[in-house]
Amino acid sequence: MGNRLSGKTALVTGGGGGIGAATARLFWEEGAQVAIVDTDSEAARQAAEGIDPGGERVLAVAADLGDEAGAEHAVRETVARFGRLDVLANVAGVRVYGPVTEASLESWDFILRANLLAVSYCAKFTVPAMEKNGGGSIVNVSSVYGDRGRAGMAQYDATKGAVIALTRALACDHAAQNIRVNCVCPGATLTGFHIRRRAELKGITLEEAEAEIRAEDNKRILLRRQGEPREIAYSILFLACDESSYVTGTTLMVDGGLGV
Ligand SMILES: NC(=O)c1ccc[n+]([C@@H]2O[C@H](COP(=O)([O-])OP(=O)(O)OC[C@H]3O[C@@H](n4cnc5c(N)ncnc54)[C@H](O)[C@@H]3O)[C@@H](O)[C@H]2O)c1
Repeated sequence: MGNRLSGKTALVTGGGGGIGAATARLFWEEGAQVAIVDTDSEAARQAAEGIDPGGERVLAVAADLGDEAGAEHAVRETVARFGRLDVLANVAGVRVYGPVTEASLESWDFILRANLLAVSYCAKFTVPAMEKNGGGSIVNVSSVYGDRGRAGMAQYDATKGAVIALTRALACDHAAQNIRVNCVCPGATLTGFHIRRRAELKGITLEEAEAEIRAEDNKRILLRRQGEPREIAYSILFLACDESSYVTGTTLMVDGGLGV
């Protein structure tokens, strides 16, 4: 337990998922009051209960942040419960696989809403709340593939590249309000999503899928392993708290050396 965020309120989007839940937990351990926001209400509730069963410093909010009204609702609920908002961690995200020759208007709409518009809407409603406290910190989660090329996930990678550009634009627009905006680019990170996907694709159990991923010697990654959600959460914490007080508009690769 630490005090890097004591007295602060943080909103973590996608807090029902792997990296989001690890981030919410770490923020809470560092003294923050934490709102966990997710479309998956049950996942948000379980994450909140797992972190703080008493619920004193944690709140679960069900909202689709790809809708402007959902983002407004999440910010309003957070401020109503905790009285302020100092940190926004935009972790929520979805994946679409395949090249653009297989893309449709529906698949673009789905991924743009969750991966790009949600970041924009959450920032839109968070900035005025942060301004009331004299400033704050926004941390957006992109991907190493928002910066580097690969085959097979064109739509996802395009949205993640846009998040890096949006981070820089937000940093420029809101520096005068003492709001810092930075971006974390995770590499391959071992979350439930990837374990479930591997298990489904190969028709194996979740335990087998996790063991298989962990046993892989991935030569493209300098550290030869996937990251743990908590390793990504520590980089988000750094950018969220005052230890990074002179950092804004930057993109931090947290990828075990995948993108080098
Ligand atoms: N895991 C990785 O290998 C990896 C690598 C690079 C980047 N990332 C990024 O990190 C973030 C978290 O990844 P993860 O592996 O923890 O994913 P995850 O699928 O475990 O969690 C994502 C969460 O976001 C929620 N969500 C999706 N759309 C939403 C919306 N419109 N409104 C509210 N909530 C929504 C989902 O319900 C889910 O709980 C994502 O943005 C992802 O693109 C992950």
